[in-house]
Amino acid sequence: ICLSKFCSPKKIGPCAMISLVGKKIKSFFPELGSILKTFKEKKCFLMTQASSDLNFSFLVTEEDADKIVEELHTICFGGISKDSLLGDSWQDLYHKPEEDFPKNFYSSYWWYKKSRDLSFLMKEKDCLYVYDKETVKQRFSSLKKLRAVSRINYAIKANHNDEILSLLYEEGSSFDCVSMDEVLCLKKLFPEITPPRIVFTPNFAPLREYKEALEFGCIVTLDNLYLLEKHGSVFAGKEIFLRFDPGSGRGHHQYVQTAGKKSKFGISLASLGDVHKLVKKYDIRVVGLHAHTGSGILDPENWKETAVLLAKLAKEFEEIRFINLGGGFGVPDNSFQKPLDIKKLDDLLYQVSLDYPFFQFWIEPGRFLVAEAGVLLLKVTQLKKKEDKNFVGVASGMNSLIRPSLYGAYHEIVNLDWLESSEFLRVDVVGPICESGDVLGYDRSLAKETSEGDILLVSNAGAYGRVMASYYNQREPAQEFVL
Ligand code: LLP
Repeated sequence: ICLSKFCSPKKIGPCAMISLVGKKIKSFFPELGSILKTFKEKKCFLMTQASSDLNFSFLVTEEDADKIVEELHTICFGGISKDSLLGDSWQDLYHKPEEDFPKNFYSSYWWYKKSRDLSFLMKEKDCLYVYDKETVKQRFSSLKKLRAVSRINYAIKANHNDEILSLLYEEGSSFDCVSMDEVLCLKKLFPEITPPRIVFTPNFAPLREYKEALEFGCIVTLDNLYLLEKHGSVFAGKEIFLRFDPGSGRGHHQYVQTAGKKSKFGISLASLGDVHKLVKKYDIRVVGLHAHTGSGILDPENWKETAVLLAKLAKEFEEIRFINLGGGFGVPDNSFQKPLDIKKLDDLLYQVSLDYPFFQFWIEPGRFLVAEAGVLLLKVTQLKKKEDKNFVGVASGMNSLIRPSLYGAYHEIVNLDWLESSEFLRVDVVGPICESGDVLGYDRSLAKETSEGDILLVSNAGAYGRVMASYYNQREPAQEFVL
């Protein structure tokens, strides 16, 4: 209230303060170069240096804090053996591993209830993705209850397993595709599908694919004016959707934030004038507007903001009937994150829909529908101890699940054979790929009894897991099984 007399303050949160603490902290400044690099891809709102010369602090988003601290520790203390210089860490002194997993913590998870089936499936296998259809169904029905949303387009890039697609098809979902091969996959699986049930939303795809999609009768979304400037005749007289860049992106990692000047997605709001000229020139009918800010978002305000922005923008066009709010609906990665508040999302979107009753609002979720429905099961291959560091090796790593290596994504890992264990060991869970980054989880609490042949379960692996797998090192990635 006081500040608003002088400027327009904005509340940012939730945030975390990270402090480098030590006597004569200024003498550490020459080292800051590499430390500041850590912040290159993360938001840093403020830096402060205490006049006491005892600390130097950074204000960051709460979401980024753990990862940044981990990186800072590696920069500041990596390579220093604990015994030679440092005492016990805070973790060593105060952390009780059993608190990570209070008894019955997992009992509500589908895979806990079906752990026997999972063990059975792994009898002759080293690694396997297992999906639970019931969970997908539940997630779909929770989104179906959103009063403002008239259509759900499942983003099949998240998981295009046949049985999952069939389930969602039967449940009445429509689909979002980003390549013609994704479209053909649906066409093959559901020969009777009505083409407008598929939205084609590619990015920098060859022109041929747009032609094929139009010919097939999909709804086509353009996210680049180049297509109209250079190839306007392809779209002449057609109904299309336009994808706009709402200006700033969100998401669990820089790589999945799909808006803002530096992002390759969407048409800039600043080029609205050119849009109008080109649309007029080729007699194109813009019937839908689209925006997608990013992936792994847990704040319901995101879709409200998108809805309001696009609904206002729609006034600039004559024939808009549809507003596609994109996907990005996140799921909690760990027990500290709160799930997306669907009730709040419903209230927020419903309010917008009352303000703009002439539009149909669509969403295109991927992760939300399938992430928690999937687990990756991995057999323990070898254990290793190097000084005070423990490693547990498993039969497949970044070749099956690249998310931890690519985004530093956190996936809960438990030993399925020792779910009730009360004694834990801190370990890095590593795969068999010849890359130092082939780590599925750093510094995890695993049952002390963990041994060769045990089955480790990696949770929330149903989205962007198998679909992003590779044959790197000529290691076949985990196959899939649907319960
Ligand atoms: N719509 C558009 C235009 C998209 O680009 C995406 C995802 C979605 C919908 C679905 O987003 P979702 O609801 O699944 O967050 N590989 C990354 C995620 C990349 C998402 C790409 N676009 C990951 O593993 O986190």
